[in-house]
Amino acid sequence: MSTSFQEHYPWTGRPLIASAAMGGYAGPALATAVSRAGGIGFIGALRDVAILDQQLTSAKASLQNDDLKVASESTLPIGVGFLLFATPLDDASVVIGRHKPAIIWLACPAQEQDFGTWSKAMKKVSPSSRIWIQVASVSVALRVVSTCSPDVLVMQSSDAGGHGPFPGAGIVSLVPETRDALNRGGFSEIGVFAAGGMSDGRGVAAALACGADGVVMGTLFLASKEVELPAKEFREAILKTNDGGISTARSAVFDQLAGKSFWPSEYDGRAIAGASYKDFRSGVGIEEVQNRYAIAAKEAHKGFGEEVRAAIWAGSGIGLVTEVKTAGEIVTECRDLARLCLQKAIKCL
Ligand SMILES: Cc1cc2nc3c(=O)[nH]c(=O)nc-3n(C[C@H](O)[C@H](O)[C@H](O)COP(=O)(O)O)c2cc1C
Repeated sequence: MSTSFQEHYPWTGRPLIASAAMGGYAGPALATAVSRAGGIGFIGALRDVAILDQQLTSAKASLQNDDLKVASESTLPIGVGFLLFATPLDDASVVIGRHKPAIIWLACPAQEQDFGTWSKAMKKVSPSSRIWIQVASVSVALRVVSTCSPDVLVMQSSDAGGHGPFPGAGIVSLVPETRDALNRGGFSEIGVFAAGGMSDGRGVAAALACGADGVVMGTLFLASKEVELPAKEFREAILKTNDGGISTARSAVFDQLAGKSFWPSEYDGRAIAGASYKDFRSGVGIEEVQNRYAIAAKEAHKGFGEEVRAAIWAGSGIGLVTEVKTAGEIVTECRDLARLCLQKAIKCL
């Protein structure tokens, strides 16, 4: 592992665990709790950066009495993630320049070159912030490192909950192949984090064994006390769903439930394969799927109830998410179990 991690994220413990920048779900409470536990907490931004401005103000206030070590006095020991296709860059620049999070996470551009435009703009307004870029293939990773010089590539596998470019690959091939390609290309100093499908310390250990410098988890933090959820039924569904390979699915239909999707065509998302997905797969037309969703969305459960007509974004590791815990407990337990697994694995040699 590069020594730059200790230098850039001095409040963190090992192994490095980050909570994903989940727009609308990962707010200041989750991000600060993860960083307080020695992880790397991210706030996920949405289109309206006025909300992000408030969230960062609140995070700063909440961290005021903590003594988290930061690399530069002006940075906040949390990160902020942007969905590039959805957020106006000028608005984002103003907020980042004002709050200076330690890390800026860039994902889902409308065009690949937007990674470069955003990286430059973010560095200009907050030079001490590190840039992390989430991609899903070795070839995009290689192009991105040569044009953007990020500090970290978050390699998102096809198991990941939420959106990503499709079709994608699993962590076991994606991470080592990316590491090799970066080393061969003279980019050995760039960190590689694994994202997608890991929902406990065993997954963390596996990703580390594949050569990852750290791990990003999203679905597991949907069971944290600090996450923001649209309805209590959302979490109930997360906790009771298992066998994620068949109970979740990647599809663009989840983005069309309330009308035309605003996502660029190269992205889809993994969510619980509920009634809307099943209807669509069995040939029900999209208008009827939308009608049925609209009726369910008017209920108190907003469509997140029993038959799951709304989109409950979750990765294939959902079956390992069975209990509500604080984000701090999640980080600590994942770390401890990862260490134990690696020690156990060594005994098998
Ligand atoms: C509910 C949810 C919302 C997400 N929102 C975003 C987002 O706004 N921006 C982003 O870059 N990734 C988002 N993701 C994807 C994560 O960045 C990450 O790749 C994924 O959570 C990792 O897989 P896992 O969920 O299996 O841990 C989201 C994931 C989930 C589960």
